[in-house]
Amino acid sequence: MGGRARQARHATGMTRNNLADWISFFDSNHPIYVNARHSKVHAGLVAAGIERYLARPDLTVLDYGCGEALYAERLAARTGRLILCEAAPHLRERLQARFAGDAHIAVVAPEAVAALPDRSFDVIVMHSVAQYLTAGDFTALLALFRRLLRADGRLIVGDVVRPDVGIVTDARALLALAAANGFFIAALFGLMRTALSGYRKLRQRMGLTRYSEADMLRTLKAAGFSARRAAHNIGHNQARMTFEAAPVSSPQQ
Ligand SMILES: C[S@@+](CC[C@H](N)C(=O)[O-])C[C@H]1O[C@@H](n2cnc3c(N)ncnc32)[C@H](O)[C@@H]1O
Repeated sequence: MGGRARQARHATGMTRNNLADWISFFDSNHPIYVNARHSKVHAGLVAAGIERYLARPDLTVLDYGCGEALYAERLAARTGRLILCEAAPHLRERLQARFAGDAHIAVVAPEAVAALPDRSFDVIVMHSVAQYLTAGDFTALLALFRRLLRADGRLIVGDVVRPDVGIVTDARALLALAAANGFFIAALFGLMRTALSGYRKLRQRMGLTRYSEADMLRTLKAAGFSARRAAHNIGHNQARMTFEAAPVSSPQQ
């Protein structure tokens, strides 16, 4: 077993084919990004997608479930302060080391976000995370986000997976991205690696939480947001959906 594989096993306490949950998966040496070029193209697209929601350069922004956040410096240059929240502990440690001493960027655990005062953020982004949460956990997070957003703030929920979109559509979207960005062969091998990896098994066992457009709008409304589906999904996969939500003011506010 190589050093990275050993580290992944250490990170999760089990092998990749026997991962306990999605957070363990994202804390491991997973094959979601097929090579460095893919990671870079992905980061560029996510940054560009999030930047559309940054109306002013002084906003305080929370990126919830930030992953590797290779785009963080680019986003931080467009915000007053950027808070990265990541649940996977080893991934979070790496981010904390990367941004140690950076006055613009803080890296925190979900528990730290839950302890923040009301109305801490102008913008909260949660991109490509809702599918890995149970519906109950997502609803609980929406209540937290509602509390943490300023009255004129915005919540952006991206990459929402519809019930009618499956793994073949995801694979096609990746191959199209790869063909347009010079990593088609690597993407083919990457898809084969993914098919053999813990990802496929975990996706079969745990599934992804899916929402139709109407489901998501209903869920956001019930949590105290007025929401609309954006014309474009953040990122490369336009079979998935992004929602922009604004807190509805309650009578006592
Ligand atoms: C597909 S990645 C998306 C990363 C990033 N948002 C992006 O679009 O590049 C999903 C991330 O959400 C994180 N995550 C999953 N459940 C979470 C939770 N309950 N709280 C915070 N982060 C979570 C995972 O650890 C993983 O890093």
